[in-house]
Amino acid sequence: VHWSAEEKQLITSIWGKVNVEECGAEALARLLIVYPWTQRFFASFGNLSSPTAIMGNPRVRAHGKKVLSSFGEAVKNLDNIKNTYAKLSELHCDKLHVDPENFRLLGDILIIVLASHFARDFTPACQFAWQKLVNVVAHALARKYH
Ligand code: HEM
Repeated sequence: VHWSAEEKQLITSIWGKVNVEECGAEALARLLIVYPWTQRFFASFGNLSSPTAIMGNPRVRAHGKKVLSSFGEAVKNLDNIKNTYAKLSELHCDKLHVDPENFRLLGDILIIVLASHFARDFTPACQFAWQKLVNVVAHALARKYH
């Protein structure tokens, strides 16, 4: 992938304003609510019985923060995303058996969370750059599938 200077700037300017804990928690909670079959991977997290339970679940919050922090690695390594996620791709494939389609779903949800938090700053050009980023991340995570 090639990133233009403008795309890089749009990505890092939004990322600099992201509250990783808040947005990460919201993104993972929305994934579990909007696509309930994803709850299967998080059965050990306790109460996921309603949207309120999911939004208030401390383990969902903590894991959402972890996942979005990991997105930060992509932002820092835009030109080397493949290698950045090599280990995580093995984990999600060999150990967790997460269907890679779910990476795309989480990426799309992250876009919605960013749009709702940043509203006017999340311009169409900005959305374009972020959509490109979440696609590249999903692709990198799916690379070790066999
Ligand atoms: C664990 C990142 C998507 C399921 C993790 C970890 C990271 C991570 C950093 C922790 C790894 C460790 O502890 O060493 C990401 C990123 C994603 C993504 C960047 C971006 C698309 C998903 C999706 C699912 C999923 C879509 C399922 C629907 C899991 C599970 C764990 C995990 C079940 C282990 C949780 C635990 O028991 O602690 N992920 N993940 N991940 N991920 Fe993902």
